[in-house]
Amino acid sequence: MTVDERYMKRCLDLAVLGAGSVSPNPMVGAVVVYEDKIIGEGFTSPYGGPHAEVNAIQEVLTNYGEEEGKALLRQSTVYVSLEPCAHYGKTPPCADMLASFPVKKVVIGCLDSFDKVNGKGVQILRDAGIDVEVGVLEEECRFANRRFFTRITQQRPYVILKWAETKNGYFAPKADRQEWISRPASKQLVHKWRSEEDAILVGTRTALIDNPSLNTRLWKGKSPKRVLIDKNLEVPETSKLFSITNSDLIIFNAVKTDWKAHLKYIELENFDFYLPQNILYQLFLMDVQSLIIEGGAKTLQQFIDANLWDEARVITGDVVWDDGIPSPKLPVASKETLKVGSNVLNIYINK
Ligand SMILES: NC(=O)c1ccc[n+]([C@@H]2O[C@H](COP(=O)([O-])OP(=O)(O)OC[C@H]3O[C@@H](n4cnc5c(N)ncnc54)[C@H](OP(=O)(O)O)[C@@H]3O)[C@@H](O)[C@H]2O)c1
Ligand SMILES: [Zn+2]
Repeated sequence: MTVDERYMKRCLDLAVLGAGSVSPNPMVGAVVVYEDKIIGEGFTSPYGGPHAEVNAIQEVLTNYGEEEGKALLRQSTVYVSLEPCAHYGKTPPCADMLASFPVKKVVIGCLDSFDKVNGKGVQILRDAGIDVEVGVLEEECRFANRRFFTRITQQRPYVILKWAETKNGYFAPKADRQEWISRPASKQLVHKWRSEEDAILVGTRTALIDNPSLNTRLWKGKSPKRVLIDKNLEVPETSKLFSITNSDLIIFNAVKTDWKAHLKYIELENFDFYLPQNILYQLFLMDVQSLIIEGGAKTLQQFIDANLWDEARVITGDVVWDDGIPSPKLPVASKETLKVGSNVLNIYINK
């Protein structure tokens, strides 16, 4: 690993600390390096707050004072996992801020494909006489912001499929009842995953049979928006999904559109055609950057058949059943296999 890669790796480690709170902004990490020593670091604050570069620079000014801090910055290299922004959003452009000192050099992981930035951040820095290098750990930096890039380039949220299956590939019992396949450690991991995404979706039968809350009670962090497919509004308002009021419940249906407080009914025309496409577009319009789909089998298979998924996380339990509903089928091989307690986690990426 080169020196530049080592600092960029630190940026990526910082970036993920913003998971779940920065959307629809990208997750970014930044470090300020003076004479081969990190003198400031930062990551994107929750949505609306300062960006990673601002937090890293602010740390230098706080630790060393305005005068010495500014002198150090003029001799420092700033590493940042995504191109500094060039536009006024909720905060002023970071490229202008770096150019105002100016810092000596900026090393960027990857360019920002967002139209209002895309190369313009680099141009502002170069125009200020700053030495700029682009493309250190580029693939890793793009992957770290896969949710953000999917939303801006495909006008849909990044889609993660998640399910548990038995050792012999069963997903649910044939009878209408819930049967746990995974162990407590996997359950806690799933709650962590939920806290990192903007929304979580289930199908009608899963809501009826499992009566899930779809919150993050086994992990700290925010609860995502909950999304339900319920064509004929069969899921009763006495279900747990309705009793949780600290996150939106969005119900795609064929009966009515009605928004009251956290309850958002959205009627879709042509409910029986292009359902995954329509749902993802509606969620995109609601600024949802990522969606985790937790079942059931029919719902998951529809998104797989429409090729509208980006990543799948499949937990294999240590139980074997005689029969049941078979698990959804993915068209790609597992990219990574990990142990979670006595369960096995396979991760699939849809290129
Ligand atoms: N192993 C796991 O990780 C896991 C996760 C979640 C759930 N589960 C289990 O899975 C079982 C439920 O799975 P499931 O496949 O039967 O149900 P599901 O996917 O939750 O729901 C399927 C139902 O949703 C409605 N729906 C979905 N897409 C639709 C579309 N395009 N158009 C119209 N309606 C649509 C349909 O209701 P209608 O038929 O009424 O129209 C359909 O029967 C439960 O036993 C649950 O415990 C297991
Ligand atoms: Zn910025």
